[in-house]
Amino acid sequence: MWQLSRAYRMASFCLISLAAAAVSPATGDMADTVDMMWGNTQVLYDSSSGRQTVSLSLDRWTTSAFRSKSTYLFGRFDVDIKLVPRDSAGTVTTVYMVTEGPWQYHDEIDLEFLGNTTGEPYTLHTNIYARGKGDREMQYRLWFDPTEDFNTYSIIWNPHMILILVNGVPLRRMKNRMRDDTPFPLFQPMRLYASIWDADEWATQGGRIKTDWSHGPFTAFFRNYTANACVPYNRAWICGQGSGDSSWFNQELDEEGQQKLSEVNGRNKIYDYCTDSRRFPSGYPPECGSQ
Ligand SMILES: *[C@@H]1O[C@H](CO)[C@@H](O)[C@H](O)[C@H]1NC(C)=O
Ligand SMILES: *[C@@H]1O[C@H](CO)[C@@H](O)[C@H](O)[C@H]1NC(C)=O
Repeated sequence: MWQLSRAYRMASFCLISLAAAAVSPATGDMADTVDMMWGNTQVLYDSSSGRQTVSLSLDRWTTSAFRSKSTYLFGRFDVDIKLVPRDSAGTVTTVYMVTEGPWQYHDEIDLEFLGNTTGEPYTLHTNIYARGKGDREMQYRLWFDPTEDFNTYSIIWNPHMILILVNGVPLRRMKNRMRDDTPFPLFQPMRLYASIWDADEWATQGGRIKTDWSHGPFTAFFRNYTANACVPYNRAWICGQGSGDSSWFNQELDEEGQQKLSEVNGRNKIYDYCTDSRRFPSGYPPECGSQ
């Protein structure tokens, strides 16, 4: 266990080891690590695994959401999700991290699962905001049916990069390119949220397919939320928990990881703002040069 000193704000990352603080690992039981926010949420107990599952439901009258009890400054976040099966057109199931400071400077990391009509594939829509600016959309087709079973979706956020993984496979990376004056989430803590809501004006096939409420309520399931992260402690940040592996803090993609990232992007990426010339007629944002 170690402490991320506030001196990190000064430029270098100063790590002070700290032996005594007891931070219980945020793992396993969802109700210990997340708060239900609103809507039709349920904490279910799965007797076969002995673990809790949280369901979020959407109907004509209410959206649902939960959020992490803690805020974080860097971490590795994993959650297993089983998405709304069959007709999920118009629905959006999300996992995202967002800062709590002034909105005009906010940072945010988004995973949004856009539903579809029965038999048609979900789209995983991702976006990253830094200092209030987003417009960094990338979309993916998953290589499995995300409604059939739980699959693991992960975010690694460290001083080098933001990395989104699906079942351990790197899907999207944004490198820290602050040296080139590209903002990167580095100074503001974020909290993790999950939600389900209706966005039938745009979500499915460009908004042509509307939510069929007679097929509701629409329910997605979440389990095994694990945050191996830096959490607030005595006005500083404590990173790593118990015997928790803290290698994520310095993790960068090795050659094999980069290879996988480019394979998946070649096969599964269906939209990339960095190749959308209509949106950027006078040149792409600087980070597009090297993801
Ligand atoms: C839904 O299915 C259609 C047809 O396969 C596809 O074009 C679309 O990208 C899918 N996803 C969404 C969110 O509309
Ligand atoms: C829960 O998630 C953690 C982190 O991804 C993983 O190491 C562990 O194997 C998972 N546990 C189960 C029972 O799936």
